Amino acid sequence: MEKSVNLKDIDRAKLAAATIAVEYVKDGMNVGLGTGSTAAWMIKCLADKIYNEGISIKAVPTSNQTAKLALEHQIPITTLDEVKFLDITIDGTDECDENYNLIKGGGAALLHEKIVAAASKKVIIIADQFKYVDTLGSFPLPVELIKFGWSSSKDCVVSILNKLGYKSYQINLRMNDNVPLKTDEKNFILDLELAEISEPLLLSRELNLVPGVVENGLFINSCDLLILGENAGKVSVHEPSRNLVSSRDVDVDRIFREFKY
Ligand code: A5P
Repeated sequence: MEKSVNLKDIDRAKLAAATIAVEYVKDGMNVGLGTGSTAAWMIKCLADKIYNEGISIKAVPTSNQTAKLALEHQIPITTLDEVKFLDITIDGTDECDENYNLIKGGGAALLHEKIVAAASKKVIIIADQFKYVDTLGSFPLPVELIKFGWSSSKDCVVSILNKLGYKSYQINLRMNDNVPLKTDEKNFILDLELAEISEPLLLSRELNLVPGVVENGLFINSCDLLILGENAGKVSVHEPSRNLVSSRDVDVDRIFREFKY
């Protein structure tokens, strides 16, 4: 039976980007799977590619949520410790600036995502066009920290923000059903509402020096390819290293109709 096409515009954009991204996955590769709604489209595309082309891959998910989704789509998963390195990782983002620096962690998976990105030869970031911003910081910056003494760690984060000249910021402990949200590693997350991040590298370094902070959501120099989707299925592919931008059109409705899963 043919699926009816009833996609929201934002999903068209995400699916368009995901469609192009999985073209980079080849037989025999170890593939890092990102987390979030855009990555979820990529998992569907990847499952279809495996089914249609009969390729064999080993996938390393960046969260329990992604692991579950991958298994539901018959994608074979393994651990990073087993494969040790990844040929490619495809992940979403919450923001990307013109230097291809990112804010990630809206889905609370930043720690595993950063480890997986660091173990990957090529990191492909997929997003709808609205994630591309002049300056990072409209999206709150997630900081993962251990539960023990988290409020003292938070005080250290406050000192750093003051030292770096941030004004009228807000820091929120991320909640889930009225209790602090716990990451897959059972840590807490602080969301830093900063409005604008002028020096992402400096902020990232300083935050990671705070005792108790495990990682922050600034991904500096980790994007090798940015694929941005637009509502109509137009996709722009940005190669930071070569300063190259190309454009493609994707028939998202057809792709959606033909999904096996
Ligand atoms: C998960 O922790 C995040 O880093 C996601 O990659 C990011 O939040 C993008 O998610 P969406 O694709 O759902 O916007």
